[in-house]
Amino acid sequence: MRKLNNILVTGGAGFIGSNFIHFMLDGNTDFNGKIINLDSLTYAGNLESLKNIKKKYGENRYFFENGNICDKELVESIFQKYNIDTVVHFAAESHVDRSIFGPRAFIETNIMGTFILLEAARHYWKKTDDIFSDEVLFHHISTDEVYGSLGDTGYFTETTAYDPRSPYSASKAASDHLVMSYYHTYGLPTTLSNCSNNYGPYQFPEKLIPLMILNMLEGKTLPVYGDGKNIRDWLFVNDHNKAVWNIMQNAKYGEKYNIGGDNELENIKLLETLIKIVSNQANLDMEKIKKSITFIKDRPGHDRRYAIDCSKIKNELGWKQEYDFESGLEHTVKWYLNNKQWINSITSGEYKNWINKNYSER
Ligand code: NAD
Ligand code: DAU
Repeated sequence: MRKLNNILVTGGAGFIGSNFIHFMLDGNTDFNGKIINLDSLTYAGNLESLKNIKKKYGENRYFFENGNICDKELVESIFQKYNIDTVVHFAAESHVDRSIFGPRAFIETNIMGTFILLEAARHYWKKTDDIFSDEVLFHHISTDEVYGSLGDTGYFTETTAYDPRSPYSASKAASDHLVMSYYHTYGLPTTLSNCSNNYGPYQFPEKLIPLMILNMLEGKTLPVYGDGKNIRDWLFVNDHNKAVWNIMQNAKYGEKYNIGGDNELENIKLLETLIKIVSNQANLDMEKIKKSITFIKDRPGHDRRYAIDCSKIKNELGWKQEYDFESGLEHTVKWYLNNKQWINSITSGEYKNWINKNYSER
């Protein structure tokens, strides 16, 4: 098992990154090192998600650096300052719809940012003649969207050819290729994971599940793209994080793992389950909420179906999902009902302006 000490988490103020930091510091693992969170606090980054974290886990466990992963000098200085031995790279522009409206930030952060981090790791960790110590690791967080879209049958495996179809997934595919190229060319100790759709606490309400929860609570319409029959495979966020930590500790360098929920659902079916849970927990009229479902113009290039074959991580590393979908969703809805301050902090500013500008037809 790999011993990792000073972990640079990029994008730790975002949805999965903040859950990862809580997961790592909350006694779920035997990790007793330091976490350094580098995040530029875009609209999707929120320090409310990490409130009181130093108080809770101690002054010496968690450090925050406000900055951009594309800033070479800053990234290099962070490697030096904290003697970083591990990178887990979550930072990205992550929303497909935004990548359609404005792809530039996706190219900059997801491709250039990954390149800057890889270069910093390569130079900081290189001993002599490109030999790296056994005690370092660059883990790259990626998505199943790099594989493109499936028809009615079949699954993405680790050897499925890449076929990205949105600017977001193309930028993630490029970053995956860069990571693998650093492993093959320079021998940089890397691992890579491609995960399906996550849900859970701290997810920004532009993504399907939190958007629908908040719209139900506010009595707004529930916008469903196209015919609502696109399929995604849903996984509770900490099941993802448990898989990531398992890979970081146990996977061989250069390996790549798919992570998924074994939980394929049409969007409209998901929405029906969510309506049941929200109306029940918030004491709202279920029939009235159902009537607010509105089918709207489809997302351009909307991938029809994602389905992950995650047997490799199950068989090789012994990982499995813990949350079934219904209990994960119930937990998530409860979290959104109980965390109004977090919601206010995120919906008050730039996000509202962006929605008003781009989605005025809703
Ligand atoms: P998110 O949008 O919630 O968070 C991204 C974080 O990165 C934010 O805190 C943001 O401030 C930060 N960030 C963005 N650009 C930055 C930059 N240039 N420098 C420093 N920080 C920057 O994203 P998420 O949903 O938590 O996704 C995290 C990672 O997981 C991404 O790489 C995404 O591609 C991948 N992923 C997400 C899902 C999902 O369902 N959300 C599934 C599979 C993979
Ligand atoms: O598969 C992993 C990917 O999952 C991650 O790489 C991305 O970062 C993450 O955003 C997510 O991408 P999706 O595009 O699948 O997620 P989103 O929540 O945007 O949409 C889920 C499905 O719901 C998709 O088929 C589009 C649909 N949808 C979405 C929104 C926001 C709607 O019908 N209406 C909506 O308002």
